[in-house]
Amino acid sequence: MTDAIRTIALRKVYPAPGARRGGPASEQIVALAGLDLTVGDGEFFGLLGPNGAGKTTTVGILTTRVKASAGTALVAGVDVTTDAIAVRQRIGVVPQRPNPDRGLNVLENLVFHAAYFGVAHAAGTSRARELLEQLGIADKAQAKIDHLSGGQQQRLMIARALIHEPSVLFLDEPTVGLDPQARLALWDILRALHAQGRTIVMTTHYMEEADRLCERVAIVDRGRLLALDTPGRLKARAPGGTLVELALDGDAAPSLERVLALPGVSSADVQDHTLRVYTERGGELIPALIREAGAASRTVRDIHLSPPSLETLFISLTGRKLD
Ligand SMILES: Nc1ncnc2c1ncn2[C@@H]1O[C@H](COP(=O)(O)OP(=O)(O)OP(=O)(O)O)[C@@H](O)[C@H]1O
Ligand SMILES: [Mg+2]
Repeated sequence: MTDAIRTIALRKVYPAPGARRGGPASEQIVALAGLDLTVGDGEFFGLLGPNGAGKTTTVGILTTRVKASAGTALVAGVDVTTDAIAVRQRIGVVPQRPNPDRGLNVLENLVFHAAYFGVAHAAGTSRARELLEQLGIADKAQAKIDHLSGGQQQRLMIARALIHEPSVLFLDEPTVGLDPQARLALWDILRALHAQGRTIVMTTHYMEEADRLCERVAIVDRGRLLALDTPGRLKARAPGGTLVELALDGDAAPSLERVLALPGVSSADVQDHTLRVYTERGGELIPALIREAGAASRTVRDIHLSPPSLETLFISLTGRKLD
């Protein structure tokens, strides 16, 4: 079976603001430094990375909006540079910033877009109504765009992206700016679309979102691929396992030497009345840690467990936090 997406040594260099074309390399911004990705047919795939990682640039190239500087990008086996029109027929795009036509109402936005892809008016209208229903904004069909909330505009963008029945759906940071309730509603919509067999490529800088939704996640930073795997396997790669934090009362410090000697402890430190222990054993270690605190005449005021996360992995790969 053909992969939904394949990029080989994909590279994008932007001229720095104000730089001359063909100016010195020092004036260039390397947004993608040779990216190799493969997304399987029907997969829910996440591109996770901080601001400026190159996520939008990658989506831009794959959706024929940005021209690559070097390398190859294929969508459903079709080369984006040599056959952009065929690629556009196969993809739906939800951009980072909603860009509906504000001169048209909700339904008209969809029907107009359908026409652009050669869908006849009647078929476009019935498909549009179906999608508005599916996305929970059927009552807004005649509404002006400016009367929609941010979440409703985002849903309209998804409906628009799906109007010509594409096989691959791209969503660039689809939940930024949504309140928690709207975000959860959008997650449900995306899960339903995926369950219908669509390939979904989503960018995000929310680890939890990538973890909860995606079957595989590529962690990108500064135009490079740092890791690519299922969220479960990526988290298992995070060093040190679970972080156990104990807030302590009193001044005497528990013996770090003894804490480090406990089974499964990979590192430990005490700072500002907090004992932090990384352990392969998670919560199992808590009784022993409480005993150690007691031995140093300290009472444990609070205990917090953080399971291994994509954030822990990102920190270990880059030395920086994701946000
Ligand atoms: N049109 C452009 N001209 C010049 N530089 C650009 C352009 N678009 C992006 N860049 C630069 O390329 C790099 C990657 O940007 P990109 O928008 O792909 O990142 P991103 O991962 O989508 O970030 P964000 O999370 O902020 O949306 C950044 O350093 C950015 O400043
Ligand atoms: Mg972006």
